[in-house]
Amino acid sequence: MKIERILTEREALWKRGRSRWCHAEGSDIHQIGVFASRDIPYDTRIIEYVGEILKNEVAEQRGIDLAEAVDGTDLASVFNFILDDEHQVDGNKDYNTARFINHSCDPNCWVEVEDGKIWIIALRDIAKGEELTFDYGFDIEFWKEHPCRCGSTQCVGYIVSQEQWPQLKKKIRKMLKRMDAEEERAKEEEKRKKKKKKKEKKRRKRDRKHKKKKSHKDD
Ligand SMILES: C[S@@+](CC[C@H](N)C(=O)[O-])C[C@H]1O[C@@H](n2cnc3c(N)ncnc32)[C@H](O)[C@@H]1O
Ligand SMILES: [Zn+2]
Repeated sequence: MKIERILTEREALWKRGRSRWCHAEGSDIHQIGVFASRDIPYDTRIIEYVGEILKNEVAEQRGIDLAEAVDGTDLASVFNFILDDEHQVDGNKDYNTARFINHSCDPNCWVEVEDGKIWIIALRDIAKGEELTFDYGFDIEFWKEHPCRCGSTQCVGYIVSQEQWPQLKKKIRKMLKRMDAEEERAKEEEKRKKKKKKKEKKRRKRDRKHKKKKSHKDD
């Protein structure tokens, strides 16, 4: 009886984790993505993001463990989704197709949490074959850890919530200024070294000449 119940629950999860609107395949953004299997009209509830509901502390520890496990690889490291103030959904499950949806700075979907369910919804009409994306809404605190490769003309270079783009742009400007200053310093140092070398060469040449003259005189 217990096994039957578990099987029914898993079947239900597999059903919830799929959708006739989309499928997973290789993506130009990152590894695997999710693509429209047919034209999707604006406001369609495309697919549910399903997974294991966990208390914040457990979910965060799992997130840390996964990030450590994939550190130094190009594998995905974030699958947790905030459900409410106390819970997150660990979507790193084979039945959850939506776990493959990538982030974009110009997304065509958004996410709605309603009655304990997480839905991926079309922000506009989406043509068959388009990759589905949404704004991951990552906090600016960890911006450097998540470079963005969404390829959109709007791309700000990092996966950060659109609400925090003004702060992000300031940080990027500061970083670029610092990099420019460092480059300038390195160039100056290079120039100084070259000048010193040239001076040294000249001095050695002068010394050699001087020695030659002296030996002629001595002869
Ligand atoms: C929920 S997974 C998305 C599916 C992932 N493409 C895969 O094959 O497993 C989230 C991870 O995908 C990657 N990712 C998603 N959107 C990205 C983007 N715009 N630029 C770079 N990496 C991205 C990051 O590694 C992120 O941790
Ligand atoms: Zn981007």
